Amino acid sequence: MLDEWKIKCLVPDLPSLDEVAPYIRQMDEAHWYSNFGPLVMAFEGKMKAFLADRSPALAARDAHVVSFSSATTALELMLRASGLPEGSRILTPALTFSATAASIKITGHVPILTDVDPVTWDLTPEIARKVMAETPVDAILPVAIYGYPIDMDAWAAFQEETGVRVFVDAAAALGQQPVHPDVPVCFSLHATKPFGIGEGGLLVTGDEKLAVLARRLSNFAFVDGTSREIGTNAKLAEVLGAYGLAQLARFDRVYEKRRHVHDTYVRELGQDRFHPKSAEFVPGTLLVDTRGRATAATERLNAAGIQTRQWYFPPLSDHAAFHDVAVVAPDGSRNLVVIDRLQNSLVGLPFHAFLSDEDIKTVAAELRPAMGN
Ligand SMILES: Cc1ncc(COP(=O)(O)O)c(C=O)c1O
Repeated sequence: MLDEWKIKCLVPDLPSLDEVAPYIRQMDEAHWYSNFGPLVMAFEGKMKAFLADRSPALAARDAHVVSFSSATTALELMLRASGLPEGSRILTPALTFSATAASIKITGHVPILTDVDPVTWDLTPEIARKVMAETPVDAILPVAIYGYPIDMDAWAAFQEETGVRVFVDAAAALGQQPVHPDVPVCFSLHATKPFGIGEGGLLVTGDEKLAVLARRLSNFAFVDGTSREIGTNAKLAEVLGAYGLAQLARFDRVYEKRRHVHDTYVRELGQDRFHPKSAEFVPGTLLVDTRGRATAATERLNAAGIQTRQWYFPPLSDHAAFHDVAVVAPDGSRNLVVIDRLQNSLVGLPFHAFLSDEDIKTVAAELRPAMGN
């Protein structure tokens, strides 16, 4: 089915065989394939420098970068290692990937789903304050939606003022999301993400205790050969450390290709059809605002052989897995009015490094009449 599309939505852009070969050869010679091998540790070290370069607040203080088998396991072990008491009520947006809220449930906490800001499509500190006036909240798990960075300094200030701890799911925002040492953040390295290696995740935090405990939990909670508590196996395999190092070496080129595709879309369809941060940042997935015409636009694009995806709709409040989860909008009601509006408006367009200018012009030509211009 996938191959029938003339223009596909996502095509991973990973290092070629030649680019990854020198690292794989090192692994082959060392006979070291897992358990915090030299390539994985070198990757973590280099990612620390990569993130510090992009994070003014982080550069000043030491940060800990811990790799995991996925962002999902990074989120789970971050929450397990956080020391939050069991059953903590954690506020998160209903507009996100299911792993965000699943990580809360699976670690014995209680998700509370809420609405997002009409402009940034994020759960913001302002929304959190309003929800906290309606219902008790013990911690917040905001999401850097579609890979646009969230305001980390605002969340650090919120945490300082309220004493309510903040943890961030920035799965799709590696390379763009500045990190703050006081606000732990998880990134995804899944093949379809802007920094893809196949599967993998990172936890970045200034909290050494959190980093050490999360890493330990990823390796059966072993201390001196015995499990100190119930852990799991969520380590990054050495071969993926090889991919990580090779991807890091080419990341600037990957980013520039994605920027070119992104800027071509913006020129074709107009800045006001995209997230306001698209003037500055390149997202992980590209959602166009059809202003209430999502169904017509999707039908037209799909009929022309152009694949679309409606990330992340329906919202989590409509998933069977979360049917029992409390929904508290900023006005205290259960009505997620912004997410409902976005569901009728946002359409995920083909967005990857292999799109030609001609492909983008084809998508734009189909889209314009369906959007009423
Ligand atoms: C917002 C968000 N959180 C978490 C994840 C899970 O990431 P992973 O596939 O690395 O487990 C994703 C993946 O799409 C995501 O978009």
